[in-house]
Amino acid sequence: MIIMAATLLILFGAIDVLQADLLPDKKFLLLPPVNFTIKITGLAQVLLLWEPNPHQEQRNVNLGYAVRINAPQEDDYETKDTKSQCVTILHKGFSASVQTIFWNKHSLPASSWVSAELKEPPGSPGTSIVNLTCTTNTAANNYTHLSPYQVSLHCTWFVGQDAPEDTQYFLYYRYGSWTEECQEYSKDILKRNIACWFPRTFINFYGRDRLAVHVNGSSKHAAIKPFDQLFDLHAIDQINPPMNVTAETEGNCLSIQWKKPVSTFPTHCFHYEVKIYNIRKDYIQTERIMTNAFILIIDVTSKYSVQVRAEVNFACREKGHWSEWSQPIYVGNDEQKLSTEWLIVLIMAAMCFILLILTLICRICHLWTKLFPPVPEPKSNIKDLFVSTNYEKAGSGETEIEVLSYVEDSGFEVLEDSVF
Ligand SMILES: *[C@@H]1O[C@H](CO)[C@@H](O)[C@H](O)[C@H]1NC(C)=O
Ligand SMILES: *[C@@H]1O[C@H](CO)[C@@H](O)[C@H](O)[C@H]1NC(C)=O
Ligand SMILES: *[C@@H]1O[C@H](CO)[C@@H](O)[C@H](O)[C@H]1NC(C)=O
Ligand SMILES: *[C@@H]1O[C@H](CO)[C@@H](O)[C@H](O)[C@H]1NC(C)=O
Ligand SMILES: *[C@@H]1O[C@H](CO)[C@@H](O)[C@H](O)[C@H]1NC(C)=O
Repeated sequence: MIIMAATLLILFGAIDVLQADLLPDKKFLLLPPVNFTIKITGLAQVLLLWEPNPHQEQRNVNLGYAVRINAPQEDDYETKDTKSQCVTILHKGFSASVQTIFWNKHSLPASSWVSAELKEPPGSPGTSIVNLTCTTNTAANNYTHLSPYQVSLHCTWFVGQDAPEDTQYFLYYRYGSWTEECQEYSKDILKRNIACWFPRTFINFYGRDRLAVHVNGSSKHAAIKPFDQLFDLHAIDQINPPMNVTAETEGNCLSIQWKKPVSTFPTHCFHYEVKIYNIRKDYIQTERIMTNAFILIIDVTSKYSVQVRAEVNFACREKGHWSEWSQPIYVGNDEQKLSTEWLIVLIMAAMCFILLILTLICRICHLWTKLFPPVPEPKSNIKDLFVSTNYEKAGSGETEIEVLSYVEDSGFEVLEDSVF
């Protein structure tokens, strides 16, 4: 009995302690953090900093912070740290709040919020650039002591409609901790920068960072509002087409081979699409392939054009864009040309044949007029008629022989003509 009672007591005691931990008394209030500041640490990048409230009671409780980004885009998260880095566009200003919370005990009341903000940079919205587009591309690197590939960046934009004529724009990109200013601009007729080319950058396709691009400007007449944009690399990367595409036919087998595009991604990261165009039948066949070779049964009487394009597959990165098609290569007989040649020969032969027939008909007509001369005068007597008929009969044999020999002669002539 005593043991049981003791156990019960211990149990209740334990529950009491537990509840005390779960429900701190009403006097135990959480105080908001202090000295909350927002610092710009890079292009489109800020650092939020705060300190724990020095008057906060420390009762061996587990405290953390809830961070709320209010602008430019709402976001909520929690941290045990007293700083937090944020990558976001800054040309519309930035504002955030932070509060102290019980870590993992969200049912309990948190502290009040403390807030801070970055003001929107000066300048009317119409002065900033519009429609910024950027693409990256990979090229083989000429400098052998560096990495074998280099990633270029190309961006274009339009001048803001309210930007004064003397406006000049400047583009910067940041990738991770690297920031660079553009050195090669293209200009419009008013010599305002409207495009930028970086032949080599610090962009790394294996990194998880987004590419930050910042375009600000200056003018004597107005403040030019800067513009920020963040790009996902997979969405802007222009893959090169496959290299060294070859196609060979052996009998009715068409075998196509190629090499992976110039890219930092290894061979297993690519899949391909092969386009086989039957020129004679005007028929396109496309095939998706994981490997670097493809064999197809073809119609030997047709000529084909073969093109291949590449895409980085899902195993290596999020879905991006297909490369351009490789230059077409042509295989197979140009049967069409051959058949047109034959067609010409046939037409010529047919024409000669018709000519021959026509000549024949003419000859026969001639004979006909000979055989049946114009209707004799009604005055001619029967004797006359008899004699003339006889004469024609006698002559007709000769004429027939003549005609026959002519047929043979003209036949040879025609044939000789058509041969040469
Ligand atoms: C907050 O900032 C003030 C003045 O900058 C400083 O004196 C104070 O020590 C800071 N508080 C904390 C908790 O760091
Ligand atoms: C920018 O893009 C928008 C929509 O994509 C289009 O309506 C607008 O005409 C473009 N502006 C210029 C200057 O091309
Ligand atoms: C490599 O060098 C050649 C000749 O100097 C040049 O034309 C080409 O643009 C270079 N390629 C790259 C990717 O820099
Ligand atoms: C544009 O931004 C860059 C990088 O933040 C800065 O160094 C430069 O002073 C700015 N230029 C103008 C004209 O605002
Ligand atoms: C592609 O072909 C060229 C010559 O046509 C050759 O120099 C190059 O090494 C080939 N590339 C590959 C990846 O085989």
